[in-house]
Amino acid sequence: MTQGSLAGKTAIVTGAASGLGKAIAERLAADGAQVVVADISENGAAVAAAIKGLFVKGDAAKREDCRALVDAALAKYGAVHILVNNAGFQHVSPIEDFPEDMWEKMQAVMLTAPFLLTRYCWPAMKAQQWGRVVNISSIHGLIASPHKVGYIAAKHGLVGLTKTAALEGGAFGITANAICPAYVRTPLVDNQIADQAKTRGIPPEAVIEKIMLEPAAIKRLIEPAEVADFVAYLCSPAGGVITGSALTMDLGWTAR
Ligand SMILES: NC(=O)c1ccc[n+]([C@@H]2O[C@H](COP(=O)([O-])OP(=O)(O)OC[C@H]3O[C@@H](n4cnc5c(N)ncnc54)[C@H](O)[C@@H]3O)[C@@H](O)[C@H]2O)c1
Repeated sequence: MTQGSLAGKTAIVTGAASGLGKAIAERLAADGAQVVVADISENGAAVAAAIKGLFVKGDAAKREDCRALVDAALAKYGAVHILVNNAGFQHVSPIEDFPEDMWEKMQAVMLTAPFLLTRYCWPAMKAQQWGRVVNISSIHGLIASPHKVGYIAAKHGLVGLTKTAALEGGAFGITANAICPAYVRTPLVDNQIADQAKTRGIPPEAVIEKIMLEPAAIKRLIEPAEVADFVAYLCSPAGGVITGSALTMDLGWTAR
């Protein structure tokens, strides 16, 4: 029998092949949960194997893949207690150049998939009178920056989904929260640093210090494990009083 505060709980983590999702999957498994590693990338197989979880390959932009993911979790473990909607990606360009199909894909992966997965997990969570929905939004779910319209619209929408799920879930022991981090050290951000360094002709360290961390009170990147700790807290008994919140982890960025 697995020991830990999440022993006996089953968690689905989307986008768990890399970065934040991988750290969250590893942390929930370390706390004793059975983890379903969901991703479009085959790299999820190794992540799942290392934590003795289940890998389900699928595209969050497809409704049938979202359905199949929850069905696979229920078939293997008979329950879903925790849903972490984390899969996401970035695209940077001004509104007038922003590809329309890119906009649609961003809404599908980062807003519609969290809605569908919440909907598909809901009956199981309701029946067991316990559920935790954790949506990985962003500080760009609360404030905007230029040239990231698809991402920012989806992440703001995700906060609205979170609040509604919290209101409807309260009576059934289900909490729903959004975590809104500033820059976390993941492949997604490494790529942005490299792109900006090239575009601006400055070293990567200067991109981090002078551009990415300029609005922050504490000048450093967040580590994936720090976000994973926060997810674990929200899933713990102590986290049970927090619901409907958009929780900033932004090193003081939005304080001004
Ligand atoms: N890194 C940051 O600074 C930061 C800050 C705030 C919020 N976030 C959010 O955290 C989440 C994870 O980002 P990350 O930085 O770990 O990025 P990442 O690129 O390291 O990981 C994202 C994962 O999502 C998967 N994914 C992408 N599209 C998918 C699809 N259609 N179906 C299934 N899986 C898909 C990728 O394969 C990848 O494994 C994203 O939602 C991102 O918006 C990241």
